[in-house]
Amino acid sequence: MISLRCSGCGAGLEDDALRCEACGELPGFVLDAASLDGDELRTLARMRRTSNAPLDRSGVWRFRELLPAVAADDVVSLREGDVPLLNAPRGAAYAGTARLAYLHLGMNPTASFKDAGMTVAISHARERGARVAVCASTGNTAASMAAYAARAGMAAVVLAPVEGISAAKLAQTLDYGAHVVAVEGDFDDALRAVRALDPALAAVVNSVNPYRIEGQKTAAFILLELRDWHAPDWVVLPGGNLGNASALGKGFREAHALGLSARIPRLGVVQAAGAAPFAQAWDAHAELVAVRAQTEASAIRIGAPASWKKARAEVRASDGTVLAVEDAEIAEARAIIGRDGVGCEPASAASLAGLKRLVAAGRIARDADVVCVLTGHLLKDTAYAARYHESNARYANAVVRGAEIASYLGGLLALPA
Ligand code: F0G
Repeated sequence: MISLRCSGCGAGLEDDALRCEACGELPGFVLDAASLDGDELRTLARMRRTSNAPLDRSGVWRFRELLPAVAADDVVSLREGDVPLLNAPRGAAYAGTARLAYLHLGMNPTASFKDAGMTVAISHARERGARVAVCASTGNTAASMAAYAARAGMAAVVLAPVEGISAAKLAQTLDYGAHVVAVEGDFDDALRAVRALDPALAAVVNSVNPYRIEGQKTAAFILLELRDWHAPDWVVLPGGNLGNASALGKGFREAHALGLSARIPRLGVVQAAGAAPFAQAWDAHAELVAVRAQTEASAIRIGAPASWKKARAEVRASDGTVLAVEDAEIAEARAIIGRDGVGCEPASAASLAGLKRLVAAGRIARDADVVCVLTGHLLKDTAYAARYHESNARYANAVVRGAEIASYLGGLLALPA
């Protein structure tokens, strides 16, 4: 029903291969949609939402027929996956679209989209007896791996770039008991080191691990299910290492092949201008050329994305597009998302910044029905938020003391709304 193949040449691959021996490309699971009944899957997913069985309470494992099999006893779950789809009136007005909602993947247990993939990767690693999980990370993969490894009783080792990583994410990772190694260099250097490891020694749980992609594809099912299986016109999301764009594209394609939804939404993948090798390759209709990445959105500070070919195939299959936005546009868009009462970390706001550009350029129609994917929670990068407000309002809109407090409040509350 689901088999592991090379995403380049299609050769069948051994479990735990991190690249194809023949052509060097990444492994990926292929689902045989003809062996499954879409109506039955839809009914099962709906029934499981009211069940108290641990596997059914996960928004990932609720779709287990579409995932590589793992014995129920080995599943490591923190009740991930069932995130909200939230209307975004201010974001819509800002970008100039009629209908906008945020799929907030930052509402997962460790506050980023990584959990949906990590539950599958760590469950599989536990089943095959791995004792250690390893990843390179700009912070969110690290925190997610650390939490799931802790639940599984496995050791966790993180390779993190020394510079520009969020202290909140590192503290979270340490709280879950991971061993953190600061690497002189950037994410790309750290990932290179991890990919060179012998998979027999440790489970590598970056998104080059195809189990991660399978878990993350369920975000597409969650989104469709929350819209009664009606796909939006566009789904816009940030792109770094490009695992998530690959995963969401795969999820939407499978949902369509299974008859769960009538069409595939177009994918808009947004990179930060200082870390935009995929956007450059897309514009040039050329192969990707790695760059030295630089952006304030530290989660997507990645210059040599591992999954770019998979992501390109998905963007093409969806008739979508790829673009880059400046850090200042990300900062402004992040503030707007906050004003919708939602909030996210800077990398996530690349989605709304990208949408605004695509509408202004006429690429997305003003009456389009759009979903922006928010990948991480506001509190993932408190230092960024504090810097933003410090430069705008010095953390507070006013400073008052003693007897002034009552008269200040009186004046403030009498203001027209
Ligand atoms: N948004 C957030 C909040 C992220 O943490 C990441 C990646 C992305 C977007 C990009 O997703 O890599 O699948 O294209 N974070 C990784 C990490 C690299 O180590 O946490 P992608």
